[in-house]
Amino acid sequence: MTTATAPGKIILFGEHAVVYGEPAIAVPVREVSVEAEVDDLRGASPGTIFLEAPDIGLRGWLHEAPPDQPLARTLQLVLDEFDLHEFTPIRVHVHSTIPIAAGLGSGTAVTVAVIRAFAEHFRLPLPLQRQSELAYEIEVLHHGTPSGIDNTVVTFERPIYFVRGTPPEPFDIGSPFTIVIADTGKPSPTSQAVQKVRRAWEADRERYEALFEAIGQTAREARGVIERGQVRDLGPLMDHNQALLEALGVSCEEIQALIAAARSAKALGVKLSGAGLGGNVIALVRSESAKRVEDAMHGAGAVRTILTQVGR
Ligand code: MEV
Repeated sequence: MTTATAPGKIILFGEHAVVYGEPAIAVPVREVSVEAEVDDLRGASPGTIFLEAPDIGLRGWLHEAPPDQPLARTLQLVLDEFDLHEFTPIRVHVHSTIPIAAGLGSGTAVTVAVIRAFAEHFRLPLPLQRQSELAYEIEVLHHGTPSGIDNTVVTFERPIYFVRGTPPEPFDIGSPFTIVIADTGKPSPTSQAVQKVRRAWEADRERYEALFEAIGQTAREARGVIERGQVRDLGPLMDHNQALLEALGVSCEEIQALIAAARSAKALGVKLSGAGLGGNVIALVRSESAKRVEDAMHGAGAVRTILTQVGR
């Protein structure tokens, strides 16, 4: 049996503006992950695949799955990449602890873990860059115009400074810091949020381009601050990025409730993370006040919190 994993991710700065060419910063979240297992399935016909993904209620043969089922599409893409046809039948089991549709990269991590498990099982090594490109192809199927930041950070598993269309820049964290990730419990529909911003931009390019540029500036400044380990300066940058995301129209009542709670519990900075309109809020906290911030966010409706140490 072959097992491979891929982590979750959060965007620290620059979501949405990154689709329009501005920089963004994302980090892996190792506290949650996807594990994909591949093993031989004796007795079945050659070249067939039995799929098990209990977290999304999927169990059946690949050739009987609807072709647009996301996991089926991933498997087809991987089979094409490796030009696999007449192989010993296999069972693919996917298990995830990454909350779905919450901005934590669950779909991307499934794709990357499956690609890795196949590559190992069939002894066909695939460079990280190619893994990322394949995961990008799946992102395109899901939401049309992805920037590529999600597949990049999930594949490279390092803090990434990312500008669309240029090679990703992994960078070092000067001093580790603690983030509370709090889930509103409301799904974050990436494609809807991205389309909403696109329509708004088409209607008023000047205003939205100024917002994108200002968001990009927070990401540029944040990179320096993170590299120098000036954790205290990160909080105000997160708050500023959040104000700009609100101006873009991707916040919502549930996000605002968690943000207010984190602020009242003395988080150092707080913003939504990912596409917004639901999904997750991230709060920068001193490690000794993490519990207080988590409790406050639970009290304001968070269905789950995850504590992550960035750079440790
Ligand atoms: C989604 O995780 C991040 C967005 O910026 C979309 C993208 O970059 O493709 C909203």
